[in-house]
Order: sequence, then structure tokens, then C-alpha cells
Amino acid sequence: MLKVEHISKTFQTDKGEVKAVRDVSFEVADGEIYGLIGLSGAGKSTVVRCLNLLERPEEGTIYFNGENLASLPDRELRKRRKDIGMIFQHFNLFEQKNVFENIAFPLRRLRMNSTEIKKRADELLQYIDLEEKREAYPSELSGGQKQRVAIARALATNPKLILSDEGTSALDPETTQSILTLLKDSVKKFGVSIVMITHQMEVAKEICDRIGVMEGGEIIEEGTVEELFLHPKEKRTFKFIQKLRDEVEDISVDAYEGKLYRLSFDNVNVSTPVISHLSRLFDVDINILAGNMNALRSGQVGYLIIEFLGAEEEKDKAIAYLGEQGVYVEAM
Ligand SMILES: Nc1ncnc2c1ncn2[C@@H]1O[C@H](COP(=O)(O)OP(=O)(O)O)[C@@H](O)[C@H]1O
Ligand SMILES: [Mg+2]
Repeated sequence: MLKVEHISKTFQTDKGEVKAVRDVSFEVADGEIYGLIGLSGAGKSTVVRCLNLLERPEEGTIYFNGENLASLPDRELRKRRKDIGMIFQHFNLFEQKNVFENIAFPLRRLRMNSTEIKKRADELLQYIDLEEKREAYPSELSGGQKQRVAIARALATNPKLILSDEGTSALDPETTQSILTLLKDSVKKFGVSIVMITHQMEVAKEICDRIGVMEGGEIIEEGTVEELFLHPKEKRTFKFIQKLRDEVEDISVDAYEGKLYRLSFDNVNVSTPVISHLSRLFDVDINILAGNMNALRSGQVGYLIIEFLGAEEEKDKAIAYLGEQGVYVEAM
């Protein structure tokens, strides 16, 4: 539904040129949630602003349902924009309008008649479960409620694509979860595709079908969550993910008597209690030091850091067994 081909965007600033986006290409399928992750300044927001031509890339082409957006006259482009909804980190609601009017706003712009506007806005209010806040103003809402209203507003014109630029970054973990659930539901219920920009790995893991990792204006690697986490092709991707991992674990290899291993789990094997089998099948002891298992859309992935105690040959056998079960083993 969306095909981005070789777009580049350079900004002229007082300090010279900033190449914000360099030769970026990716595709998003119908009903797909595509993530762009990267550190601050990587170029994510600029890519998203190019997608609805708020920013014109100086090179490259964006096809939206087969149409080259840049080739459309302004009047046509304005019509197409109703097919692309947007949500932001700071919600960007109209503070002077109540919840109902915020959701109705894009419909009024389309000059829909007021009976239809009321019907559609009320449907969406019900969908986001905020009917009791119909007359409330944004200042009376929590962050999560504001983002729900923003999502309803983005969905009002029946868009085919939703762009979320750090849509959950200002929310606490619990609220983030509820917003992610709402976005996933929206894919199912309305058939939208989503481009999800985030610097939060947890968000990307939870919701994205595929992810592009951005650094220095480029997509340095693209793949499913499993591919990027377990078998990154690029050293830079590995480093990037490692950086995020290191935030949660701080284990000193030297502090342990036994040898330390990192076990990476793919979807395939989580149903078998592999670890508890190990000590029974082989003469080894296992000490679990750290870990992080995540429920993903397609199953579970994660890793465990373990200490192996036992004779060398028993350890080798145990490691071979892990390999047979599809567990990826790295010595630390
Ligand atoms: N309008 C602009 N003018 C000049 N530089 C910009 C502009 N927008 C973004 N940049 C620069 O482009 C780079 C990428 O920014 P951005 O797309 O916002 O990254 P991200 O969203 O990944 O944090 C940064 O170096 C930023 O300073
Ligand atoms: Mg940004």
C-alpha cells in the first residue's frame, strides 16, 4: 500500500547542510505495522513528514496505493491526505475544542453533513471508550485519554494509513500498553496500516510486524523483530540492540565460577521446558542470572544469561542439545 523508494532529504541550516534522510526505501503492506526505530536525530520524523509530503524529499518517490503523491496537483493531494491519519507524542489536540469537536474536525473540513458527522464521531467515541468525556476539553483528560481522542480523530476520515510519531513516548508503561492495544485493534477493525516511529524497543517489539533500524539518516537494517533481535546481519544493528540490552543487564563475567552463556530463544522452542530438561539429561548445574522473555505477535522470543557448572564434556553435550532444540548459544 505504501512504497518508499530512495528518498533523501537535506536541510540547509546556519551551520551548513544536514542530510536528515539518506536513500531510504521500504514498503508497507495492507494491514501491516511497520516500525522505524533509532536514536534521537536518526531521521525518523523527517521520513514520516515526507510520507504525507509535509516535507518534500529532494530525491526519491513515494507511492501510496500505486500513486506517486508528489505528481498530484495540490487539490488532489489534499484529498489524498484524508487517507493518511497522524498521531504525535504530544497529542496535538485543539485545546479550545471539546472531545467531540476534536474528532469531528477532519469531517467538518470534508464538509460532511452534520447528521453524518455526529454519527461517525459518536461511533468513534464509543470505539475509544470515552463516551463520558464527549463534552470534556483536552485539559481535563489524562495523557492516555488524549491519545485515544487523537487516534479517533486520525481514524475519523477512514484513512488507509496511520502515522504515529512517538505516539506512546509521553505515556507511562501501562497507558502505553493500552494505546498499543487500541492501535492493534484498529488494524483489525478498520484495516489500516501503521507506520510506527519509536525510540522505545519495547514498543517496537510489542506491535511491529517488521522494523527498519535507522541511524544517520539511513535504514541500516530491516527485518522482523525476531530477525533483528536474534540474528542481526549488520554489526551496527547488533550494537544498537546491544546498547538497549545493556541497559537492563550489567553482569560481570569474571565474577562467576562457571562459564557464562547467552541463550537466545526463537518462537519454535518456547513450549518445551528446555532448561529444566538440561539438568536432568546431563550432569550439569544451571544458574539463571538474567533474562528477558517477550511475548511477540508471532510467539515468544527472548534470552537468558546462564552460568553452567559441571564437567567440560557434559557442558558440551548440553550445549549441543540446546542447539538441537533451536536455542542459539553464545559464550560470554
Ligand atoms: N526543519 C529542519 N531544519 C533543519 N534540520 C532539521 C529539520 N528537521 C530535522 N532536522 C535535522 O535532521 C536530523 C534528523 O531529525 P529527525 O528526523 O527529527 O530525527 P528523529 O525523529 O529520528 O529524532 C537531525 O539532525 C535534525 O536536527
Ligand atoms: Mg523524531
